[in-house]
Amino acid sequence: MTKHSLTFRSMLESDLEQVNAVEQQSAEHPWRKAHFSDSLKSGYTCELAVLDCRVVGHSVMMMAAGEASILILTVDKPFQRQGIGRQLLQHMLHKAGQSACETLLLEVRRSNIRAFNLYLDEGFSEIGIRKNYYPMGNHREDAIVMATEINC
Ligand SMILES: CC(C)(COP(=O)(O)OP(=O)(O)OC[C@H]1O[C@@H](n2cnc3c(N)ncnc32)[C@H](O)[C@@H]1OP(=O)(O)O)[C@@H](O)C(=O)NCCC(=O)NCCS
Repeated sequence: MTKHSLTFRSMLESDLEQVNAVEQQSAEHPWRKAHFSDSLKSGYTCELAVLDCRVVGHSVMMMAAGEASILILTVDKPFQRQGIGRQLLQHMLHKAGQSACETLLLEVRRSNIRAFNLYLDEGFSEIGIRKNYYPMGNHREDAIVMATEINC
């Protein structure tokens, strides 16, 4: 059902409130609104997944020298596990390919099994570990670095 009515568009300054609301209620370690605002100002690729006029997901990607990096990808909690994250990731891969990027990289917390499974399923493989990279309460958590080649 969602597959047919899901569309994608670029994030605008006027979307920031809504994006931040989705982020705060859906991500375990949410970005702050300023991160999204800075990403827009920096000219990063900031994309939204929209279902029947409602923003249900967002992703931010940085591209340089033929390499793209996804900085964040979040689906609104009530809309998770309906295939939206997968379609948003495929959309970001497509955008990176359109900009002649050959590789797409990302980092995921070791404990984030949902995201890790999605990335594995979409052809990413683990290429490294950043030890104790993310703060997690009083501790720190490893980041798994993943990458996929982009077929233009
Ligand atoms: C990770 C996230 C983006 C996935 O989005 P989603 O729309 O729920 O995912 P999809 O429905 O497209 O599922 C795609 C695949 O992801 C994996 N997955 C998604 N939810 C999962 C869950 N609860 N448990 C295990 N695997 C899961 C599965 O491999 C799934 O494929 P399947 O349904 O065929 O088994 C979403 O859970 C989210 O926004 N989480 C909070 C923010 C976050 O952690 N972002 C990633 C930062 S690196």
